[in-house]
Order: sequence, then structure tokens, then C-alpha cells
Amino acid sequence: MKLTNRWNRIAYRLWSPVYDGLFDRFFAAPGRRRSMAVLNPQPGERVLLVGVGTGADLPLLPAGVTAVGLDLSPAMLARARAKLPLPERPVTLLQGDAGVLPLGSETFDAALLNLVLSVVPDGAACLRETLRTLKPGGRIVVFDKFTPDGARPGAGRRLINLVTMFFGTDITRRLGDIVAGSPCRIVHDEPSLLRGTYRVVEIRPANSE
Ligand SMILES: C[S@@+](CC[C@H](N)C(=O)[O-])C[C@H]1O[C@@H](n2cnc3c(N)ncnc32)[C@H](O)[C@@H]1O
Repeated sequence: MKLTNRWNRIAYRLWSPVYDGLFDRFFAAPGRRRSMAVLNPQPGERVLLVGVGTGADLPLLPAGVTAVGLDLSPAMLARARAKLPLPERPVTLLQGDAGVLPLGSETFDAALLNLVLSVVPDGAACLRETLRTLKPGGRIVVFDKFTPDGARPGAGRRLINLVTMFFGTDITRRLGDIVAGSPCRIVHDEPSLLRGTYRVVEIRPANSE
């Protein structure tokens, strides 16, 4: 089984009413606070949130930052829209596919990929597209779960993955495979939730300082 946009639309329509109250409140919140701290958006910057979901990251944006949040799921976007407006943080929400972003090249200072590279059908295409939207010197921060690079997902993980795929996430992806196809480099990588199964990673275009 592979995750598809068709399945993700269904899965995240089902997730949307309970996502913030269940998953975010009891699990993901510390990881997303840390990823925003690593991204460290500055007043005046434009930030792209790919797979913005219910917009759980939006209230963490500092004042003065302009944001665009894109997601495939109308139901998740409706939850994000309910969090707006945010004082001094203009946010635009768009429906679209992370694999073919309907956004211009070199238009964002920074991007957040929280819990999305393990969800979209093609994580490498999502990263490539996000890199395309970055201005020179831009940065991406990822908070997500990955199988360690160089390791094959074990039988237990592959078995559990049959269940997590049903819920719209793949726990067998390796960040190294996703990054390999793009002109970029990892400049920061730290363990996060579940004893490092989740990681917070900063990625920069290969040609940046
Ligand atoms: C696990 S949620 C993460 C949401 C949010 N980033 C967060 O940290 O809470 C994954 C999100 O990716 C979205 N998604 C799935 N496939 C997508 C695609 N091809 N393009 C854009 N968003 C997609 C889902 O609709 C869902 O909102």
C-alpha cells in the first residue's frame, strides 16, 4: 500500500474534528514548539507552512511574520481558518498539493514541514518543491518521524505501518532518501519525541552559506 492524495483526503477529513484535541494536545505540541524555535522566523519574513493541517503551528508564529499555509484537505483547512485572524500575523490559506506547489519560485524566507514528509505521497517531490519556493539563503525546518538512515525498517515497524498508513502516515520513510534527490544539505538534526523516532531537522539549499 502507498499513501495517495485520494486516501489522504479521506483520512484527514476523518482526523480533522479530533486532531487538535487528541493528537496535538497530548502528543505533538512539544515537537512543534521546538521546530518553530529552530526555524526562528523574524519580523518581516514570509514563511510557508506546507501541509498546514489544522493550523496548530500558526499561533506559534511571532508577530510581524507573514505566512502562507497550504494543505490538500479542505476539512483540515477549515479548522485552520477557524484559528484566524491572528493579531499582527497575516496568514493566507490555500488548498493545493505539496508535490506541485501552486506558488512562485524564490518567494519565501523560510518553510516549515511539520509532520508532512511522512504523509504526502512523494516526500522527495514535496521537499524539492519547497526548496524551489525559498529565496536564496532560505531555510526549512522539519519535525517528523523517520526510520534511521542506513537501516531497513524492521518487520515490527512494517507491520505497524500497515495500521498507520490507514490513518494517513508512513513510519518507514528515511529522511536520507527524501533529501538525496534535492540540492540541499542538513545543517541541524536533533532527536525529538519517542526517543528520537521524531526528529527536528534544519535543511538549507546546497548553495547557501
Ligand atoms: C499529520 S498532518 C500534519 C498537519 C500539520 N503540519 C501539523 O503539524 O499538525 C498531515 C497534513 O498533510 C496534509 N496532506 C496530505 N497530503 C498532502 C498533499 N499532497 N499536499 C498537501 N498537504 C497534504 C493532510 O491533509 C494533513 O493536514
